[in-house]
Amino acid sequence: MRHALIIGGSRGLGLGLVQEHLTRGWHVTATVRGPSDGLNALRQNAPDRLVIETLDTVSTAQTAALAGRLNGQSFDLLLLNAGIMAGRGLALGDVANDDIQNIFLTNAISPIRIADALSSRVAAGGTIAFMSSILGSIGTNDDGRAELYRASKAALNSLIRSFRARHAADDVTILALHPGVVRTAMGGPDAALDIATSVRGVADVIEARRGTGGQAFVDYRNQIIPW
Ligand SMILES: NC(=O)c1ccc[n+]([C@@H]2O[C@H](COP(=O)([O-])OP(=O)(O)OC[C@H]3O[C@@H](n4cnc5c(N)ncnc54)[C@H](OP(=O)(O)O)[C@@H]3O)[C@@H](O)[C@H]2O)c1
Repeated sequence: MRHALIIGGSRGLGLGLVQEHLTRGWHVTATVRGPSDGLNALRQNAPDRLVIETLDTVSTAQTAALAGRLNGQSFDLLLLNAGIMAGRGLALGDVANDDIQNIFLTNAISPIRIADALSSRVAAGGTIAFMSSILGSIGTNDDGRAELYRASKAALNSLIRSFRARHAADDVTILALHPGVVRTAMGGPDAALDIATSVRGVADVIEARRGTGGQAFVDYRNQIIPW
C-alpha cells in the first residue's frame, strides 16, 4: 500500500487531498495544527489508513519533533499543502510587517524546511510535491494582483529549485503544483473549481509524473506553467 504524508490537511484542499488519496487506497498521514472535524470524520471510515499528526508548519521545533516521530517510516509522497493569504487588496505600505513575515515564513520558508527535515523519509522513486500557485509564476505576472501572496509563492518556487539542486542526486520527483482557482476559504465562493475536481486533478498529476525525476511546475490538468 502506498503511503502519503500530507502537511496541512485540516480543511480546504489539504483535507480534499487526504480524502482523495484514501479513496485511491493509499495510507495517509496528515498533519494539522489544531483539531479538524473533517479529518476526524474521514478517520471514522478508514481507521487503519489515516494517521493524524500535529504540526504548526512555521515551528522548527515541531518540525524536528515530527521528523523524529516519523523515523523509520517511508513515504511515496510528501505533499506540502499548508499556505495562507495576507495583504490582499492592500498596498505593500499598508500591510503590517508581522503579516509580511508570516506569509513568507508560511508559504515559502516552512515548506522547504519541512521538506529538508523529511526528505530522507521519502522512498526512492517517490514524489515531493509543493502546493504553489500560478500566481507564483514570474513569467506570467502581467497584472500584479495579490502581489504579496504572489511574491511568497514566487519565493517558494525559487526555493523549490534550490531544493532540487541540493538534492540533485536523490531519486525523487519534485513538483510545484497549481491546483486551479478553487472554492475554499482562501479561494472564495466565486472561484471556478470545486475541491473535488481540483484534488482529483492534482492526484492524477502526481500519479502521471511519478518516477519521472527532475522538477516541474504544473497545474491540476498537468499543463506546464512558466516559472
Ligand atoms: N484555493 C485556491 O484557489 C488556491 C489556488 C492556488 C494555490 N492554493 C494553495 O493551496 C494550498 C491550500 O489552500 P486552500 O485553498 O485549501 O486554503 P485554506 O482553505 O485557507 O486552507 C489552508 C490550510 O493551510 C493550513 N495552514 C496554514 N498555516 C498553517 C500553519 N502555520 N501550520 C499548519 N497548517 C497551516 C490551514 O490549517 P488551519 O486549519 O490550522 O488554519 C489549512 O489546512 C495553499 O498553499 C494555497 O496557497 C490555493
